Amino acid sequence: NWTTGNIVDEQVAAIREQVGTKRAICGLSGGVDSAVAAAIVQKAIGVQLTCVFVDHGLLRKGEAEQVEKDFVAATGVQLKVVDAEERFLSALAGVSDPEEKRKIIGREFIRVFEQAEREIVAESADAGEPVKFLVQGTLYPDVVESGGGTGTANIKSHHNVGGLPEDLQFELIEPLRKLFKDEVRQVGRELGLPEAIVGRQPFPGPGLGIRIVGEVTKDRLDLLREADAIAREELTAAGLDNEIWQCPVVLLADVRSVGVQGDGRTYGHPIVLRPVSSEDAMTADWSRLPYEVLAQISTRITNEVADVNRVVLDVTSKPPGTIEWE
Ligand code: XMP
Repeated sequence: NWTTGNIVDEQVAAIREQVGTKRAICGLSGGVDSAVAAAIVQKAIGVQLTCVFVDHGLLRKGEAEQVEKDFVAATGVQLKVVDAEERFLSALAGVSDPEEKRKIIGREFIRVFEQAEREIVAESADAGEPVKFLVQGTLYPDVVESGGGTGTANIKSHHNVGGLPEDLQFELIEPLRKLFKDEVRQVGRELGLPEAIVGRQPFPGPGLGIRIVGEVTKDRLDLLREADAIAREELTAAGLDNEIWQCPVVLLADVRSVGVQGDGRTYGHPIVLRPVSSEDAMTADWSRLPYEVLAQISTRITNEVADVNRVVLDVTSKPPGTIEWE
């Protein structure tokens, strides 16, 4: 008969034994899983852990700050932040194909992560001793899924930023392997993590890079960040965060449609809202959001985000649609 409290104690003891006096590194993605995994390992081995946060410029509004300030304040974790926005954006220039984007983001992430690991070793007092352990926020459903399951979610190459650089020689620490998502949130709350992180929706490793249908550019990212922030604000204000599993907000960057604003004709981009209900992301249904909430999101996005003149709602279940558009 276990509780989430037991799980933490059990994991802390196991991690201390596994790591001994060596060092561990953890990639933070900004998501719940890596944050909770890091917090448990921090509790176990303190300064022997260094977290790395690669800001690839594809994050949502405010997310980098939450990791850099609130997460660090709550856990006392040692954090190395790498601002790699330019690097990622130039690698992505001219690329529209979703799988190609994932590959590029995954490749760049590993390079930046490796570089960060070398710097951490070089900067440390006991220079020379390599980092031996890598913390992963693997959940129970991930374990099951990679154990031969051929679920629909595997159709996309799920590169997980914060995921394992395959050619690196690390031993893994996976403190969440027995847990489901809701249990991970519970553990996070018990460890005192900020609600903004613990309550966060699942967010793909490649971030907003796969929520822009078309080429990824800084301007498009900024536009999407604004639209996404409005949708999140309104869903939270309406108390709907627990009703929906996640709500991708997607920019159809290569599509334009005619609109009218004031006295003028506009020729702008559509934004797609993709709110879904799900247990595990393997299947999903579109969320029946209240019309007033949809209306409010639509009005605000078209008023406040330049170059967007239309908001559309995705009413496709999964299957046949996937949750993300790419
Ligand atoms: P789909 O779009 O396949 O998404 O229905 C299922 C779940 O996986 C997330 N997702 C990703 N997560 N890297 C990730 O770490 C990815 O490349 C990726 N693609 C989709 C998606 O947000 C949903 O929760």
